[in-house]
Amino acid sequence: MSIKQKLGVFLYERIMKGPEKAGLQHWRRELLEEARGDVLEIGIGTGANLEHYPKQVDKLIAVEPNPEMIRNIDLDAFGGSGPVEVVQGFAGDLPLDDESVDTVVITLVLCSIPDVARALAEIRRVLRPGGRFLFLEHVASCEEKVQKWQDRLDPLWNYLTGDCHMNRHTEEAIEEAGFEITDYIREPMPKTPLLLRPSIRGVAVP
Ligand SMILES: C[S@@+](CC[C@H](N)C(=O)[O-])C[C@H]1O[C@@H](n2cnc3c(N)ncnc32)[C@H](O)[C@@H]1O
Repeated sequence: MSIKQKLGVFLYERIMKGPEKAGLQHWRRELLEEARGDVLEIGIGTGANLEHYPKQVDKLIAVEPNPEMIRNIDLDAFGGSGPVEVVQGFAGDLPLDDESVDTVVITLVLCSIPDVARALAEIRRVLRPGGRFLFLEHVASCEEKVQKWQDRLDPLWNYLTGDCHMNRHTEEAIEEAGFEITDYIREPMPKTPLLLRPSIRGVAVP
């Protein structure tokens, strides 16, 4: 296990404490109320969503590449009714069969994925007909001035974090991947630095 992976967990848990308390936890719960049936969560991290899953979730499969994140997950926190399985893997190559889940959840992950279009194509592949994709992401600002600063500082931010981008047009990427966004909120993330504050959350269907 690399020092970078351990450091990632350490920093992530500390950086997120403020936003979680200031409202992010509430956003997670609201979004996950829409989850049902067999659910796939991509990039579960240390499991910040687990306690917010509702009873109508029968089973959760979580895919996460970082073994140090997986080691820190408390599976007992799961609010759904069925089993939880955590698998080491990547969004661009999901270890799941075609049309095998009812809901896919992704929160604060598309900013870090190297090939977003490929990950979104994988999400489409594993969703059953009638399935839904729930997302919550920090994204490029709508304000030109802020977006310019995000573009300028993104290479440095990406270098420092190892994988995160602050200037992704995730909403457009979701639509370009053939999803229709049916529910959508754009809102500044509380207690977050200005350039990481713009965020979107919602529901999309293939
Ligand atoms: C900022 S953390 C978010 C964790 C969690 N989803 C949350 O909402 O708190 C980003 C997560 O995405 C994972 N990740 C990075 N690249 C990934 C990839 N290609 N496929 C799946 N997960 C990835 C990281 O290991 C990390 O756990």
